[in-house]
Amino acid sequence: MQRVGLIGHPVAHSVSPLFQQAAFDATGLKARYEAWDTLEAGLEQRLASLRGDDILGANVTVPFKEMVQPYLDEIDPVAARIGSVNTIVNHGGRLHGYNTDADGFALGCEDADIDLGLRPAVVVGAGGAARAVVYALTETDPRSVLVLNRTVERAREIAVEFGAGCDSLADAPTSVFQTARLVVNATSVGMRHGPPGMPFDPALLTSGCSVVDLVANPLQTELMIEAERAGCWVQGGLHMLVYQGAAAFELWTELEAPVRLMLETALRATLDQADES
Ligand code: ATR
Repeated sequence: MQRVGLIGHPVAHSVSPLFQQAAFDATGLKARYEAWDTLEAGLEQRLASLRGDDILGANVTVPFKEMVQPYLDEIDPVAARIGSVNTIVNHGGRLHGYNTDADGFALGCEDADIDLGLRPAVVVGAGGAARAVVYALTETDPRSVLVLNRTVERAREIAVEFGAGCDSLADAPTSVFQTARLVVNATSVGMRHGPPGMPFDPALLTSGCSVVDLVANPLQTELMIEAERAGCWVQGGLHMLVYQGAAAFELWTELEAPVRLMLETALRATLDQADES
């Protein structure tokens, strides 16, 4: 039996083990996807254990996406540019780090017919998720991408690196939202057990604007509901979560991922969690 796992803390409520296991089972691979809750003190040992014969690789999540790099043998150029690793592949005892978040974001948008070329574009947030989104958006026309963040220094750091503009979330003029044609929420505001409310006022948005909320749980955030009410096209974060997972699955197995099954499984698991609370 081969094994893959999710390295992070906490990981108990992640739906990744459920939709990844469904994919392994559907493709007939004898592999088990496990939740590997890891504290920082145990990170080095956890990564060393990935070199074993029975390990295909791992996913990496909060808070280790930036921290794992020194323990890996090779970093894919995209992961190096984004500055974070969310997928590790064990190639015969050598560990390769990848980032599938930017692809996950792009494919999740494609699924909802949201064009990444829509401009002006606004990214709200400046953490790891925002970095992957800004990377994906600034491949073309970076100067019409604006990064807004509560802590403006973090927004500035990303903006300088990728050639985008930046401002503080609180001080940005309302015209930024009024003229935007694509807005991405990459903050944790609205997450289940995260900061409540909305990161900005969706009433400012113009009808026809596309809004992507990277929050995957709940499936419908307050921001999504209000943006839809304002006439926007809306996509939630479950798609990015599943597509980044599907891309990781393909790196471990070199097989095509059963994306629809993974999406259905993730959707059902998230709804079950909502019923439990
Ligand atoms: P991740 O790596 O998952 O993106 P992160 O690095 O913790 O997570 O980033 C969380 C993002 O949510 C940050 O942009 C954070 O803003 P700060 O950089 O100012 O901390 C943003 N965020 C969290 N709580 C917020 C709140 N109440 N209002 C606005 N932004 C918030």
